[in-house]
Amino acid sequence: MEANLFSGKTAIVTGAATGIGLAIAEYLIERGATVVVNDLDAERTEKEVRRLNDLGRGKALTCAGDASRVDFVRDMVDYAAGLAGTRLEMIVANAGLTEFGDFLDFTEESFDKVTSLNLKGTFFLTQAAARHFRDAGTGGRIVLIGSTVGNRAYPNLVAYGMSKAAIAMLAEQLTLDLSPHGITVNTVSPGATLTERTEEEEPDYAGVWAQLNPDGRVGLPRDVAAAVGFFLGPGAEHITGQQILVDGGWANYSASPFFVDTLLAAESKKADV
Ligand SMILES: NC(=O)c1ccc[n+]([C@@H]2O[C@H](COP(=O)([O-])OP(=O)(O)OC[C@H]3O[C@@H](n4cnc5c(N)ncnc54)[C@H](O)[C@@H]3O)[C@@H](O)[C@H]2O)c1
Repeated sequence: MEANLFSGKTAIVTGAATGIGLAIAEYLIERGATVVVNDLDAERTEKEVRRLNDLGRGKALTCAGDASRVDFVRDMVDYAAGLAGTRLEMIVANAGLTEFGDFLDFTEESFDKVTSLNLKGTFFLTQAAARHFRDAGTGGRIVLIGSTVGNRAYPNLVAYGMSKAAIAMLAEQLTLDLSPHGITVNTVSPGATLTERTEEEEPDYAGVWAQLNPDGRVGLPRDVAAAVGFFLGPGAEHITGQQILVDGGWANYSASPFFVDTLLAAESKKADV
């Protein structure tokens, strides 16, 4: 590990008090960054910030608040840009939420919940950061968090999938607007990733996805953090508008009778043990 890779640089990571966002914050702090840790859950953010600071490398700072609110994300960028002794160079728009539901019964309330954070929050955080990078003349790196569900249809996730597809297109669109200012925007799209939330949804989440992912295991938050770190690191200076799927190959295959047979065979082998 390059302990000083991100020394002297500040990152904002949204939705970072748990799960993938927390792993990204930790990855950056282990490599010397100052990380502005945002989450809606103020108490949990405080607790994790204390733990991150105990790692003894970079620095974590709390910035609790609602990343779907335009005034809040603008203030957060101002706060991060004003920190002494370190320069705001990295943004990770990780905060996002999922609402499951049949398309034919999907409510306006659920639609607004998904789109106000996943789309509006991401769009205006990116805009606020890009304005700062342009005015400061420093360039900058922005990573958006998409999903395999933005690339492949998945049951009961229409609004979520649509929002995540739009996120990847936002990064593509911005190659024209932001490349002249030295700003890169890329998307990291996790597949099924083991977090407290996903484990609550399905207690054997790791076991189920080990069967479905061609590489034979569930995704871990640190897998996603490593891909984010690549886009933020020195090797990705000339890469923008791209998307990396971190999914163990899940989005590469189509459902087939052969695959169902393989799953059933694995199930019956488990039952025999
Ligand atoms: N876990 C997965 O399997 C998976 C797969 C694909 C994509 N993703 C994406 O990765 C990102 C992180 O996912 P996760 O599973 O770690 O999420 P999570 O649900 O475990 O954690 C999300 C965090 O965001 C916070 N949050 C919620 N609303 C917020 C708001 N308005 N402002 C600020 N913070 C808010 C929550 O308090 C929570 O701490 C999301 O964008 C998600 O869509 C996750």
